[in-house]
Amino acid sequence: MEIFIDSASIPEIEKWLNMGLADGVTTNPSIMLGDGIYDIEEGARDIACLIYPRPLSVEVTTNDLNEMLDQAREFASWASNIVIKVPQETQDGVPCYGVVRRLEEGGIRVNSTVAMSLGQVILAAKAGATYISIFAGRVGDEGGNTREVIKNAVWWLERWRYNSKIIVGSIRSVADVLDAALAGAHIITIPPQFIAKMADHRYSRATVGQFIGDARKALEMMEGARRS
Ligand code: E4P
Repeated sequence: MEIFIDSASIPEIEKWLNMGLADGVTTNPSIMLGDGIYDIEEGARDIACLIYPRPLSVEVTTNDLNEMLDQAREFASWASNIVIKVPQETQDGVPCYGVVRRLEEGGIRVNSTVAMSLGQVILAAKAGATYISIFAGRVGDEGGNTREVIKNAVWWLERWRYNSKIIVGSIRSVADVLDAALAGAHIITIPPQFIAKMADHRYSRATVGQFIGDARKALEMMEGARRS
């Protein structure tokens, strides 16, 4: 299983990358805005360079299918490790699978994003998407069974030998990460604050505190014994 960082913050990405925990990065226009990246090209180039050769997902920002193709080709020209996020459908419900197919056929890798159902995963895989992003938190918002969607999607892809990889995003807690991992997600894209929470346990800290305290006591005893 791989871990992607769901962030556009260079210091955060660098932090987890240096620990060997980041296999890639995902962004979307809201993440870019939230992390203070207003110039998508500059932000994408910086992140892509930092994490190279790991993949960076950058999302198209239009409802027009032809404009999506143009944007995707432009974004992909910024760095060879940029993957283009194309939504399942436009805001008005027009399916975007034709865009996925044309980009993949032209050698541009696609992350078919905002998937909320097994049906969408099947269509994205048939269109040839390299990655398919299931939005766990948002599936749960609507009362959907996130674990079932992920498990069934991974099973179906493997049953029919599709190469598409499931990325689970829209993570809202450490429990979401663990649920996705146990449901068989190939990749989980995690906001940095939840990686920090995963790494931390108060009893681990207390145990380390005990060991450090005892090591200091032992040193004092040794020095006391030498002096006497
Ligand atoms: C993943 O690729 C998405 O960018 C992200 O996880 C969306 O999460 P949200 O539901 O918090 O917007």
